[in-house]
Amino acid sequence: MLSLKDKILRKKAVISVVGLGYVGLPLAVEFLNKGFWVRGIELDKNRVSSLRREKSYILDLDDKTLGKAFKQGRFRVTTSYNAVCGSDVIIICVPTPLRKTGEPDITYILDSVKKIKKHLSKNMLIILESTTYPGTTEEVVLPILSKGELQVGRDFYLAFSPERIDPGNKKYQTANIPKVIGAVTADCLECASVLYKQIVNKVVTVSSPKTAEMAKLLENSFRSVNIALANEVAFICGKMGIDVWEVIKAAESKPFGYMPFYPGPGIGGHCIPTDPMYLIWKARLSGYEPKLIKTAHDINSFMPHHVVEKLIEELKKRKKVVRKSKVLIVGLSYKPDVNDIRESPALEIIKELTSKKVQVSFYDPYVKELQINGKKYISIFWKEKNIQEMDAVIIVTNHSNVDYGILKKALFIIDTRNALKGKIKNLVKL
Ligand SMILES: NC(=O)c1ccc[n+]([C@@H]2O[C@H](COP(=O)([O-])OP(=O)(O)OC[C@H]3O[C@@H](n4cnc5c(N)ncnc54)[C@H](O)[C@@H]3O)[C@@H](O)[C@H]2O)c1
Repeated sequence: MLSLKDKILRKKAVISVVGLGYVGLPLAVEFLNKGFWVRGIELDKNRVSSLRREKSYILDLDDKTLGKAFKQGRFRVTTSYNAVCGSDVIIICVPTPLRKTGEPDITYILDSVKKIKKHLSKNMLIILESTTYPGTTEEVVLPILSKGELQVGRDFYLAFSPERIDPGNKKYQTANIPKVIGAVTADCLECASVLYKQIVNKVVTVSSPKTAEMAKLLENSFRSVNIALANEVAFICGKMGIDVWEVIKAAESKPFGYMPFYPGPGIGGHCIPTDPMYLIWKARLSGYEPKLIKTAHDINSFMPHHVVEKLIEELKKRKKVVRKSKVLIVGLSYKPDVNDIRESPALEIIKELTSKKVQVSFYDPYVKELQINGKKYISIFWKEKNIQEMDAVIIVTNHSNVDYGILKKALFIIDTRNALKGKIKNLVKL
């Protein structure tokens, strides 16, 4: 009988990916394209039925690529965990959101691990990829899996390897983003390393799962802190009449010791607003009260409100009544050239504006409609006439395929992303 390592090396291993979202689906396709048999376990029936029709819901993965993956005849998608039976590797890519209280919500991980446990058998390799707090793999996942006869390192293998994809990034994709791996035993680490070497150019092994879990949180806390610094510098520049974008461009010319981050309307997506909160929560439990990471999170969370305050100030300057004023939001997604609106600052801005009875509309080439507080919004047509009707425009996300030229017809524009590079009159910077 082949060992797990040999099965992987000979592409005979069957890989199950649990959770076919922004992370899981592209990962499943990577393994398929390398010749593996892949099963996708996804609880969302709509997603499963869309996949069976070879329709992708992930912008970075087009229908053609997905169709090709299916045509190889080695891909099966299902809502049933029975697919774990007969799998050699199970990779968990389920969501790790925050509770309303701001604390980690690992219920999706717990649910998937409990279901996997029912089918756990000898020589299986289980890998957690979902971002989570240090200790999850060994303190939460391992106790569930090791209830019973099977022993980790001897009968089954367990590792944590954080996902690092950056949706919309054309330069860095799975193969050229090094993969960090931490595992429970040396054999677990060996198996997980052999597996990932099939799809990435470089693996970086660390001494434990919690080191790998912490590394992921450091990466995203680093981003949060630096974005907060850029936001704070923007506030200071605003008070002093200095163009913060020109300042950043100048600082960027330093070839060492500096890396540009930019101010904006706030942070969004599944990572930057969430991951530092996982770290803060775990740090507190461990007896340390984080200051810098917490302050950064507070500054970034304040930004949508700052945009609204700026808008009100500018409307008043122009003798416009805030109530009933018409405001257009350009760009709903949390970052350029993606269709993901999760935690997008645009949502916070819209909620606050509607609470002030502002008439909000939006334009986004990637997002056709939006439901907020029971109200449905449809993306407007990008026409001069529609812009002229507005009392104000706020650029929240700077998609690269938008013709910003027609905004010269707007009464005024709050450009939170420097999308217009100061080229249009009636421009208000953050
Ligand atoms: N999106 C990113 O850019 C990104 C980058 C790096 C890391 N991550 C992390 O990766 C993880 C997944 O993120 P995502 O963006 O892919 O989320 P997602 O919401 O796009 O996808 C997760 C999928 O898991 C499914 N799911 C939920 N519970 C399940 C269960 N018990 N069994 C099977 N399927 C289940 C959901 O229906 C969903 O389709 C998160 O921890 C996230 O923080 C995301």
